[in-house]
Amino acid sequence: MDKLVIKGGIRLKGEVEISGAKNAALPAIAASLLASGKSRLKGVPDLVDVKTMGRLLENLGAGFQYVDSSVEIDTAKIRRFEAPYELVKTMRASVLVLGPLVARFGRARVSLPGGCAIGARPINLHLMGLEKMGAKVRLDKGYVVATAKRLKGAHIYFDIPSVTGTENLMMAASLAKGTTIIDNAAREPEVVNLADILVSMGAKIKGAGESIIVIEGVDELRPFDQYVIPDRIECGTFMAASAITGGDVILKNCRPEHLDAVVLKLKETGVAFEPLSAGIRVIGPDRLEANDLKTMPYPGFPTDMQAQFMALMSVARGTSVIQETIFENRFMHVAELRRMGADISVQAATATVKGVRGLVGADVMATDLRASASLVIAALAAKGKTTIHRLYHLDRGYEKMEEKLRRLGAIVERVR
Ligand code: UD1
Repeated sequence: MDKLVIKGGIRLKGEVEISGAKNAALPAIAASLLASGKSRLKGVPDLVDVKTMGRLLENLGAGFQYVDSSVEIDTAKIRRFEAPYELVKTMRASVLVLGPLVARFGRARVSLPGGCAIGARPINLHLMGLEKMGAKVRLDKGYVVATAKRLKGAHIYFDIPSVTGTENLMMAASLAKGTTIIDNAAREPEVVNLADILVSMGAKIKGAGESIIVIEGVDELRPFDQYVIPDRIECGTFMAASAITGGDVILKNCRPEHLDAVVLKLKETGVAFEPLSAGIRVIGPDRLEANDLKTMPYPGFPTDMQAQFMALMSVARGTSVIQETIFENRFMHVAELRRMGADISVQAATATVKGVRGLVGADVMATDLRASASLVIAALAAKGKTTIHRLYHLDRGYEKMEEKLRRLGAIVERVR
């Protein structure tokens, strides 16, 4: 299994191009199932998760080709309606095919995701919404089996604003008979990107990006030719990399307006930003100042940036209190950061981080996608050599991470 070896202590400097968003690409690829024919998605990152989604669609009978950051999907010959356990267990977002399959073909059999490294992550809200839209949902040997002659519009309320739940139901509702209202919907930019793509397919959606989304179902949708938005989490991760190394980095192809909470928080820790026509410049201070943090659904501070922020706070001046409110088990990086000399204690969903003068390189284990990113950031600032094991998590979500860091002057090597 690949390892990443990083020699820390270098101020990052230069320009880096942000890739398309994984979390926008995955639902868009699933949306292609809503129409018959060839759809094209542009600006797609070359990532393991995208390939997994491709395999999932091929397994359904679709054509799937990735060429030069574009994906071409041909959904004219879908003949199976199942997302098997082997694929769902490696990528929870596989559940995004559930809504489109039931809406267009009247049936779907999707493996339950089960537990994952960052908590239980149920899909009850996805299922509740489909049931409200008239689908019959039952469990069969670890699979969700959903059937419906034709879905019908419904008023759905989410106890928690689930991102993929909102996306799944928005897709399903686009082909339902009548009007669907999703109340307390997720407002993430990826939801808006998906709504834009659905609208280009002929869907009638209002309110994406707000808490109430109204979808008027149509009889048929057509294939799309669209772009995915830049990855705000990759962008935030490189902001953190510049911040912790006292760097001076220009991030191109990013949408800073999707990162307001992250930018404002980083400013409070002493990071300077300069908006540029082609992106944003991020200048790290000599030493970061401690700052408290609470993760929240968008537009709050993203849980997907919590681990990276903790890496920053581990070397900041002062003590920070970091609360994780979205996932119950998302402090797996703490033990690894401690191995590098961080002073962090955890009580339930709250971590108290006492900033230390410096971290020291060590052997560490990547446990999930964003935890891996936080270890990379910590390693960039640590004295000496850090070896990050189990790199496949990082490869699920970051395109050419080490190449991009190297271009900024970092000493990074992938060992196969
Ligand atoms: C998406 C992102 C992930 C990010 C997360 C939160 C994708 C592919 N993944 O994941 O990177 O970390 O949003 O921003 O876009 N919940 C329920 N029942 C459900 C669904 C969710 O209780 O049916 C809970 C979850 O356990 C969690 C919260 O709702 O506590 C938010 O989860 P959700 O927004 O659904 O996360 P994902 O869509 O899986």
